[in-house]
Amino acid sequence: MKTISIINLKGGVAKTLTADSMAHVLATLHNKRVLLVDNDKQGNTSKAFGVHSYDDKSISDVLTARRLDPREVIKKTRFENIDVMPANMTLIRANMEVLMDSTRPQQTRLRSALNAIAEENFYDFCIIDNAPDINISTINALVASDDVIIPIKIDKYAFDGLEELKEQIEDTRDDLNPRLRLAGCLITCFIRADAEKQGEAWLRSRPEYPVFDTRIRYSDKVTESTFSEIPIVEYSRRSGTAMDYIAFVQEYLRRGKQ
Ligand SMILES: Nc1ncnc2c1ncn2[C@@H]1O[C@H](COP(=O)(O)OP(=O)(O)OP(=O)(O)O)[C@@H](O)[C@H]1O
Ligand SMILES: [Mg+2]
Repeated sequence: MKTISIINLKGGVAKTLTADSMAHVLATLHNKRVLLVDNDKQGNTSKAFGVHSYDDKSISDVLTARRLDPREVIKKTRFENIDVMPANMTLIRANMEVLMDSTRPQQTRLRSALNAIAEENFYDFCIIDNAPDINISTINALVASDDVIIPIKIDKYAFDGLEELKEQIEDTRDDLNPRLRLAGCLITCFIRADAEKQGEAWLRSRPEYPVFDTRIRYSDKVTESTFSEIPIVEYSRRSGTAMDYIAFVQEYLRRGKQ
């Protein structure tokens, strides 16, 4: 099971859309079995796949409960190949609980759970949608991941926090997870404005930040698809956004083979 964290310290840069679209494309066009982990108290991925709830177990339990079988938390979706580990606002409290309980390791709890799941060889990919933050939840995600993908929406403040995120990735690799790799930055919500092209040129000139060739175009269809809770690639396969996510997954898989 290959585990991929979608992360950026900035909010609203298409982390969730990228995680959900990647999972959907891998599952439906590449016939891969995907576990989508919602690691954000906002629960947007859980909502997108119709599994958001306060009654059932969530990632909060995975982080705080001892001797929990992580499979108890996983929910089926209407897509045969996509299951979701959901999140909700209880994650705020769970984060505090993890930090207050130093009797056992704090940063490796998600990894232990995902390792137990990976042992069954059921899922091909695990994709983690993260909150716009560095907190104990996101550190757990980095410790549990093989690859990091950073969605970047190029605007005036696009690169704020990028350096800090890179340092966090490097620290995690040094201390706890030697296999962690920055797979690349993914330009999202692209509308071909001049300022965007300048931002992109700057990013592509920095060797420490690999950038995927594929850029994800902006499309009005995305808002409609979000309201309908239908993945963009199903809602409007011919929209620029859908075509770009399909191309991006191909690029990601191709690069992984090199
Ligand atoms: N390619 C796109 N075209 C049009 N709208 C988009 C596109 N990508 C993202 N959006 C919209 O931008 C908003 C933010 O996207 P999303 O929720 O995926 O970002 P996020 O980084 O997960 O945000 P948060 O930090 O709050 O978790 C959403 O309303 C989404 O529909
Ligand atoms: Mg999100």
